[in-house]
Amino acid sequence: VKKITTNTLQRMKMQGEKIAMLTAYDFSFAKLIDSANIDVILVGDSASNVMAGHETTLPVTLEQMIYHASSVIRGVSRCLVVVDLPFGSYQSNSDVALASAIRMMKETGAHAIKLEGGEEVVESVKRIISAGIPVMGHLGLTPQSIYKFGTYNVRAKEDAEANKLRNDAKLLEEAGCFAVVLEKIPAALAKEVTESVNIPTIGIGAGKYCDGQVLVMHDMLGINTEFKPRFLRQYLNMADEITGAVQQYVKDVKANDFPSETESY
Ligand code: KIV
Ligand code: NA
Repeated sequence: VKKITTNTLQRMKMQGEKIAMLTAYDFSFAKLIDSANIDVILVGDSASNVMAGHETTLPVTLEQMIYHASSVIRGVSRCLVVVDLPFGSYQSNSDVALASAIRMMKETGAHAIKLEGGEEVVESVKRIISAGIPVMGHLGLTPQSIYKFGTYNVRAKEDAEANKLRNDAKLLEEAGCFAVVLEKIPAALAKEVTESVNIPTIGIGAGKYCDGQVLVMHDMLGINTEFKPRFLRQYLNMADEITGAVQQYVKDVKANDFPSETESY
């Protein structure tokens, strides 16, 4: 199998082929998603929400992200695997950031890391890349800063924040990031940024002009049905399917219909 690398993504941008990215957090789903021809799996810190049930991404730890990432890696044979550095594992200074990135790469076998922010993290980004670790940036609605924003509303609608985002995208490109996620910003701004940098942009709630798209697996498969932002396209209603299957199993057990003769030894 031909493995996807950061070079592949760069080439895809140049050739106008869109990049498809989804999150995964465990072996079994990673295996399914990889064999369905995804380009990139993101082991997102959204694990904090969809795996652990926290309200925000802040509580998930570096150790927990290492567990998720190493599980995902064992299920993957061709796609690129990017892992989020969680809140608290890189913000304090670039020594801490570099140590966290090295641990993540060493203990999981992941191919790249992602961290949130622009100018604030650019020194850390440079040092991590200098160590040979590919970095994906993340701008716009950066959920690790939710208590600074106060809401999950669209970001960068005002000029000041849009200008900072334009500048941050340039800084991340210059620092050597291989791609950047643009989360929940106006489509027109995402288009402008996508055209102004040479690295691929991967959007979530950022319109159709990004070089790629990412969704949280649990949201697009309809496992988590409470979260319905307008940017989400739900491809399955797994919640209904799973509920139905479990209800049927309970019925069969109660009725002593399961197991049958042929299901017994
Ligand atoms: O953690 C995550 O799932 C993400 C994507 C939504 C970009 O960062
Ligand atoms: Na994330």
